[in-house]
Amino acid sequence: MAPESSNEPVAIVTGGARRIGAATARALHQMGMRIAVHYRESSGAAHALQTELNEVRENSVVLVRGDLGDVSQGRSLVRATLTAFGRIDLLVNNASTFYPTPFARATEKQWDELLAINLKAPFFLAQAAAPSLRESAGTIVNIVDIYAERPLINYSAYCVAKGGLVTLTRALARELAPAVRVNAIAPGAIIWPDDDIDDVAKQRIVSRTPLKRRGDGDDIARAVVYLVRDSGFVTGQVIRVDGGRSVVP
Ligand SMILES: NC(=O)c1ccc[n+]([C@@H]2O[C@H](COP(=O)([O-])OP(=O)(O)OC[C@H]3O[C@@H](n4cnc5c(N)ncnc54)[C@H](OP(=O)(O)O)[C@@H]3O)[C@@H](O)[C@H]2O)c1
Repeated sequence: MAPESSNEPVAIVTGGARRIGAATARALHQMGMRIAVHYRESSGAAHALQTELNEVRENSVVLVRGDLGDVSQGRSLVRATLTAFGRIDLLVNNASTFYPTPFARATEKQWDELLAINLKAPFFLAQAAAPSLRESAGTIVNIVDIYAERPLINYSAYCVAKGGLVTLTRALARELAPAVRVNAIAPGAIIWPDDDIDDVAKQRIVSRTPLKRRGDGDDIARAVVYLVRDSGFVTGQVIRVDGGRSVVP
């Protein structure tokens, strides 16, 4: 447990054990924040990340497990962070589920699951963290997707959820001002999904990206650092980090 007297700011990173979430947790830790790394199933990766970062600064990382599809577990995440560290300065809504829902066959269960993790969880996490964020004049960063604006065929439920998260970003920028800034990052192709897509599809995506490559987790992490540290007059905005993909028709 961190000493009560520590003044280091505190971030919650949801889905922080792996991939973009872990890159973000590392970058925020490097800029001096203490981190509540939330995870659901990736226990091994979460513990490895905690060990790695606590070796750099003792007691600077706690792990909190939970299924954020369940609003009460989101509230527990906020409570556990406050118990461990006593303050919250940043909420990064990164946890997500991404899978196809071909329109004719999409089920209510899929809709509920995709909307729950990608939209409902960020809403209620922000609500639970808001009093602490107001106290610390903190920040929320929602990780959305360029597909929120240009929906991907066969992924309508996911795209609707991310579109809702863009709107939530703007709504909360008003609701929580002037104390709390709320912004979003829209990644393009950063890390391929775990249930691998084929090489032709990858090539097609890269060929339509002006910078002719995919990004990596650090590209998103650096944008989060910008929104937290260097953008005091920026709120309600979506920053695209997509190698220029969104300017190609
Ligand atoms: N990867 C890309 O190229 C890309 C492109 C566009 C947008 N994005 C957005 O960027 C963010 C990060 O992307 P990513 O690919 O790194 O994410 P990801 O691997 O798809 O998901 C991040 C984490 O979310 C957690 N999660 C999923 N369902 C959950 C639930 N019901 N409750 C709690 N946690 C849950 C999982 O944690 P556990 O592993 O611990 O279960 C997972 O590791 C996401 O918001 C994604 O939509 C990514």
